[in-house]
Amino acid sequence: MATRMIQPAKSIQGTIVVPGDKSISHRALILSSIADGDSVIFGLSRAADINSTLHCLEGVGIQIDKQPDQTIVHGKGKFGYRVPTDILNCGNSGTTMRLMAGVLAAQSFDAVLDGDESLRRRPMRRIIDPLEQMGVTIESRDYKAPLKIRGASGHLRTIDYATGIASAQVKSCIILAGLYASGITRVTERSPSRDHTERMLLEFGVEAQFSMGGAGVRGPAELRPCTLDIPQDISAAAFFLVAALLLQESKVEFTNIGINPSRVGILDALAAMGANVHKSDVTELNSEPRAHLTAGYRKLKATTLAGSLIPKIIDELPILAVAATQTEGVTTIRDAEELRIKECDRLKAMCSNLKKMGADIRETKDGCVIKGPTPLKGTVIDSHGDHRIAMSFAVAGLIAEGETVIQDSECVEVSFPGFFEILEQSVQR
Ligand code: S3P
Repeated sequence: MATRMIQPAKSIQGTIVVPGDKSISHRALILSSIADGDSVIFGLSRAADINSTLHCLEGVGIQIDKQPDQTIVHGKGKFGYRVPTDILNCGNSGTTMRLMAGVLAAQSFDAVLDGDESLRRRPMRRIIDPLEQMGVTIESRDYKAPLKIRGASGHLRTIDYATGIASAQVKSCIILAGLYASGITRVTERSPSRDHTERMLLEFGVEAQFSMGGAGVRGPAELRPCTLDIPQDISAAAFFLVAALLLQESKVEFTNIGINPSRVGILDALAAMGANVHKSDVTELNSEPRAHLTAGYRKLKATTLAGSLIPKIIDELPILAVAATQTEGVTTIRDAEELRIKECDRLKAMCSNLKKMGADIRETKDGCVIKGPTPLKGTVIDSHGDHRIAMSFAVAGLIAEGETVIQDSECVEVSFPGFFEILEQSVQR
């Protein structure tokens, strides 16, 4: 178990390069694998979660050439996967498991998806129920991984599915399975979740329909290979944006950051807190908008984070909670019970660790209440092996008094290899 010591910093400066967007990277690999021919991907994330998807695809016989500046996926068409000789290990990655389940559901063989201890604890009924309605049989251990997917050999039924949760993983799983069914498969959501699958399908020549309330696809659909350029990950940039906002005399810049409207909740939340994140050079490539972002120190004010904003900031809530401890007033986070079933119970991990650092924070059933500003003090942080908790508390350590020790720090590799090195290179003491 690795630990990292974080010392307080005066400021953070520079142009920060963060990994390729994790959500888009998963989809780029999976959609390329079922396209008819070679697809070329630029900017693929090298994070462990993406390697999990890559290894699962190799496990079903897809050849993937990883070159320093591009990745070539030799797609074999929708039914080109080979029978796996082993379980398909999704590691820590919920996106890998839930999206792969959608494609495996239609194959003419059985496959077992498994993962690490954290992934084995996460709920899978949310994909098992709709896939079963589409005609697939899935064996599980009380709706948890390992999942044995009994491929339906292309005989999938379309569904019109209303999900009670805003989850892009669930929506994408159903849409991917819908590529194999005859007719329109639709998913409607209570609040809109990220729409990268729908946008990317357009690049592969599939007319996916999407709106703020859900998504639909007409099957059976064939995918034609394409070239994709993946923007940098706004969820990874979020840690440095918040560090710059909290440390005086800071200025950070990012280029080619994905600003898909379903992902920029962090910018809306920070704007509501009075932040000055500046967006320029907005372009769109492969149906995904991107921009240049700059941010610097700002005195922040408290706000309420709730409702339909939550799915748009679901991965950024831990770092937003760190920011909230430094704002004037009471920040309330509500409607965020999904955080309890992420890589760890993130609400509990955020609240217990921030409390230990001296923050005035109270955990609620679906969020927390944070009174600020309070000075933070360095302490030992239990990351619970969760990458976003480890990175959030590394940023908290920069503004704390004394040393902060992040336990299980190697978990940052899940989404951001080299995170601590980039942080160290960018801060001034
Ligand atoms: C993701 C969707 C979100 C997010 C996760 C990545 C995706 O999960 O938290 O990090 O790539 O589709 P849910 O769909 O479960 O909300």
